Amino acid sequence: MWVRAMTTDVSTASLLHLDAVSVAYGETVVLRDLTLSVAPGEVLAVVGPNGAGKTTLLNGIVGLASVVAGSVTYDSRNLRNMRPERAGGMGIAYVPQGRWLFPYASGTMNLWSGGYPRRDRRAVDRDVKGFLSRWPVAQRVSRRNANVMSGGEQQVVAIGRGLVAEPRLLLIDEPSLGLAPVLVEEVFRVLTEISGGLLEKNAAIILVEQNVNMALEIADHVCVLAAGEIVHDGRRGELPASQIGDLYLH
Ligand SMILES: Nc1ncnc2c1ncn2[C@@H]1O[C@H](COP(=O)(O)OP(=O)(O)O)[C@@H](O)[C@H]1O
Ligand SMILES: [Mg+2]
Repeated sequence: MWVRAMTTDVSTASLLHLDAVSVAYGETVVLRDLTLSVAPGEVLAVVGPNGAGKTTLLNGIVGLASVVAGSVTYDSRNLRNMRPERAGGMGIAYVPQGRWLFPYASGTMNLWSGGYPRRDRRAVDRDVKGFLSRWPVAQRVSRRNANVMSGGEQQVVAIGRGLVAEPRLLLIDEPSLGLAPVLVEEVFRVLTEISGGLLEKNAAIILVEQNVNMALEIADHVCVLAAGEIVHDGRRGELPASQIGDLYLH
């Protein structure tokens, strides 16, 4: 009995658990035999070179790519190949690579769009206003359409939109991609603060990044993907950032 009581079942302790998962687009299998977990209150960083399959991993979780083997468990439910439009209702928010804001809608409207799965419109309004008042960069573009915002402004709005969804699992894909270093810092300031708030509410975050140093500043766990496979998975600090880079540069 003792042994049983002390054994933690990883699939129930975690909010999201992938077990031996393979993900494909049509006939093309991109990820093979991937096992990873993220627990409530944790940030998992997924790093790796271009084409490693990082975006495909997030797409597989939300049903935008096909999970062709293994199991995906979220909040004790089987998530394998759910329809992508169900993600919001299940508390999963996706901040995709390239932002994908509504180009002809203002910053405020884009933030509002994150609240679509929530019933309490007043709470959405409060959260949108709260985000705008907290971040001057967002306030500046509150009335400006997304297609005329800078990359950094768009990224802050995209993160805000994810936050307004009040997620239990937030997926963020390459927030620093294509941004000047000073803007990367700004985006990570926003990310650090909002992740603090979300983790306090026991949400979990999966952050995909190529900027290993930045990712390691907020991650509890780090998983290195290369050519569709996990080549390292451990707690932050087990490997210094320079060695993590080495894992996939050679
Ligand atoms: N829609 C798609 N259809 C077929 N192959 C794709 C598609 N999207 C990405 N791929 C392929 O999957 C691999 C991984 O891509 P991706 O997940 O975007 O990598 P990363 O995000 O790590 O840069 C690449 O070889 C890419 O060409
Ligand atoms: Mg990608």
